[in-house]
Amino acid sequence: MTEPDFAARLLAWFDLHGRRDLPWQHPREPYRVWLSEVMLQQTQVTTVIPYFERFLQRFPDVQTLAAAPIDDVLQRWAGLGYYARARNLHHCAQAIVERHQGQWPRDIDQVVALPGIGRSTAAAILAQAFGDRHAILDGNVKRVMARHAAVSGWPGLPAVQQKLWNYAERRLPDTRLADYTQACMDLGNQICTARKPLCAACPVAADCSARLQDRVAELPSPKPR
Ligand code: ADE
Repeated sequence: MTEPDFAARLLAWFDLHGRRDLPWQHPREPYRVWLSEVMLQQTQVTTVIPYFERFLQRFPDVQTLAAAPIDDVLQRWAGLGYYARARNLHHCAQAIVERHQGQWPRDIDQVVALPGIGRSTAAAILAQAFGDRHAILDGNVKRVMARHAAVSGWPGLPAVQQKLWNYAERRLPDTRLADYTQACMDLGNQICTARKPLCAACPVAADCSARLQDRVAELPSPKPR
């Protein structure tokens, strides 16, 4: 089942209820979007915002970051935890300067080849910074897709993950990819939550297979033990 207006409904909801005032959205530049996505990998939005601002003050562009001593980078990262992210960020900045003359690659395989960037993060960067048409599949979107398409099986299994990627790709709009990407994360964060999802407020509840089958609480399937 394809959902031709899944994206239209989600975008209309986003215009009313989504997060449109995040600092990395104004302006949406690849350096800022990349930095925010790496910071957001294991840290909440409200925690990230002040770190993001201070990091940008010290390292306003990829060249400055690439040229900085790692100790300065770690110092500005202190408090966010998961320091491997800061080390990868620094290596990634150097790779962008050395391999790509300081310009963000638009080819998703070249982005995935950079240190610390997986497929979903690469897609999130290209969609938000350039409006390129790529699906993301972070934890939120896995849950949204597993429920909307009623995909059984633990999403950590490659076969299940592949199905979820396919559903995420089939639902992509042709325009407004940056907003759509944020809208997917916001839906997973605010409405299609792991526990007590707010189906009554969900813009795509009408054709949500899990809801229609009364299986919302059991999807996505937990890790088998
Ligand atoms: N987690 C990863 N990227 C995010 C974003 N852009 N907004 C909110 N949470 C996120």
